[in-house]
Amino acid sequence: MRVLIQGIKGYWKDTILTPLFMLLEVAMEMMIPRLMQTLIDDGVNKGDLRHIYVVGGEMVVAAAIGLFAGLMGGKYGAYASAGLARNLRSQMFTKIQGYSFSNIDHFSSSSLITRLTTDVTNVQNAFQMVIRMGMRSPASMIVAMIMAFNLSHELSVIYLVAVIFLAIAVLGTMPITHKMFTAVFKRYDALNASVQENVRNIRVVKAYVREDYEREKFIQGTTEIYHSFIRVERIITMMMPLMMATVYTCILLISWNGAHFIIAGNLKVGSLMSLLTYCMNILMSLMMLAIMFVMIMMSTASMQRISEVMTEEPNIVNPENPVYDVENGDIVFEHVDFKYNQNAEDPVLKDVNLSIHSGEMIGIIGGTGSAKTSLVNLISRLYDVSSGSISVGGRDVREYDLKALRDQVSVVLQKNTLFSGTIYENLRWGNKDATDEQCQEACRLACADEFIDRMPDGYNTMIEQGGTNVSGGQRQRLCIARALMKNPKVLILDDSTSAVDTATDAKIRAAFKEKIPGTTKLIIAQRISSVKDADRIIVMHDGEINGIGTHEELLQSNEIYRDVYESQSGRGAADDFDHHKVA
Ligand SMILES: Nc1ncnc2c1ncn2[C@@H]1O[C@H](COP(=O)(O)OP(=O)(O)OP(=O)(O)O)[C@@H](O)[C@H]1O
Ligand SMILES: [Mg+2]
Repeated sequence: MRVLIQGIKGYWKDTILTPLFMLLEVAMEMMIPRLMQTLIDDGVNKGDLRHIYVVGGEMVVAAAIGLFAGLMGGKYGAYASAGLARNLRSQMFTKIQGYSFSNIDHFSSSSLITRLTTDVTNVQNAFQMVIRMGMRSPASMIVAMIMAFNLSHELSVIYLVAVIFLAIAVLGTMPITHKMFTAVFKRYDALNASVQENVRNIRVVKAYVREDYEREKFIQGTTEIYHSFIRVERIITMMMPLMMATVYTCILLISWNGAHFIIAGNLKVGSLMSLLTYCMNILMSLMMLAIMFVMIMMSTASMQRISEVMTEEPNIVNPENPVYDVENGDIVFEHVDFKYNQNAEDPVLKDVNLSIHSGEMIGIIGGTGSAKTSLVNLISRLYDVSSGSISVGGRDVREYDLKALRDQVSVVLQKNTLFSGTIYENLRWGNKDATDEQCQEACRLACADEFIDRMPDGYNTMIEQGGTNVSGGQRQRLCIARALMKNPKVLILDDSTSAVDTATDAKIRAAFKEKIPGTTKLIIAQRISSVKDADRIIVMHDGEINGIGTHEELLQSNEIYRDVYESQSGRGAADDFDHHKVA
């Protein structure tokens, strides 16, 4: 509810004007049967032509005002609900930008996308319905009942019975339809997730020739939704004939009884006609109310999901008096434990102690799942430690301003991507004020210049979303260049040269040594050749540091390191192959 009120901000005028115009429309709508009654009873039946003209004119005016009010109500209703959708979306989007990695883990990206699109649309439609019909329908119903009651007490009883009957029918089916709608939207969610997954990874799907399987999965999903919708609609469509039957029964009863009253001289023809119009009004309003309730039910589930996003607390925030300057590239881990999920039993990182000096080049090696990524992600506070502490430049990372820290501790993520835009634009993510010269210098360091120069538009070449039009190794080198743009004190490469050939890989490291000697470099790799010449190498195993030392030291003392080295320098190993190719 609070979220909804925040969402209306800036659109209160439209939100209030809409029901007001709708009420004006109702007032006009209610006057018309009244006017018609005197037109017939006092004009037509008495042959008073003047009266017919006057009342006829009044009817035209009432109809015109009603039309105008209806149009304005529609217009402001559209403004208000579109505005609400806009606000909700931008508020959610802003909120999501403040999320930490673990907040995002909590929702999953595809669910966030569904919430930003489909759920907001649901709320928007329901909101429009409510502000347009929420006042209009009850008002129209009540006024029509009073008017009808004034015309004929006896005949109005028929309405009353009909209304009560329909209300019970609508309210009775509500809990059932609510449950069904919730189920429909859950399915819808799953389908959306599968579509997003498939479309985003369509290349993988094709590579594995999984199109048939994916199609099956999709068809099954849509079929399930089809069945669920049919089930709900069956109930809702049953309401329609029921309402119509009630309307016609009412008309029949009123006409029948009315005719008797007219013959007895207790009712005039005009009054009967307006009674019948009111009858239609009342039952139509009731129908609108029923539809409105259905829409509200559909949207409450969506609203719930939206407010989950809005009320999620970002769990990594700036400290109160942040420090903006990272003095140097020293990194110290003290008794660091880390869990992704607070409730998990075993920590991912266990009692890690580590001291790295500014300017060192550190290699990190270890089997998959040995927590290499987890280790380095803590340094730029992509996640926070569960216990213990990490300091950079002599201060706990939690004392720094987040942006300042992440500018000075630059990470090339393992799952790196580029964004749609030119190469220059992508590089300037790292530093928006960088000159062309600086961009090119970073690319030279990352050995990206050689292939960029060969591209037809050079540095102005358009990169497609996700960087699909460059090769894996080219993308990695561009990502390294982007990270270098920040002139960081600490540079972390998480498996960032895995697709780069060994010779270029070595060239990049040599350039680092020569051009950015003051920057601490942490290089995670699978290939021993990528870390061999580092000042020190950390061997990770199962969330713990298994050994630290130079290549020679580790060959002597560390069993895991020696095993990996031997397996990679054996015949047919990928590394070996690379050497031959380069030679
Ligand atoms: N976002 C996450 N949420 C929960 N668990 C995670 C998350 N990321 C990683 N893990 C778990 O933490 C452990 C360490 O993963 P991590 O990514 O640090 O390994 P890694 O050494 O980088 O592996 P690789 O060489 O394959 O990149 C794994 O068991 C993994 O399942
Ligand atoms: Mg990793």
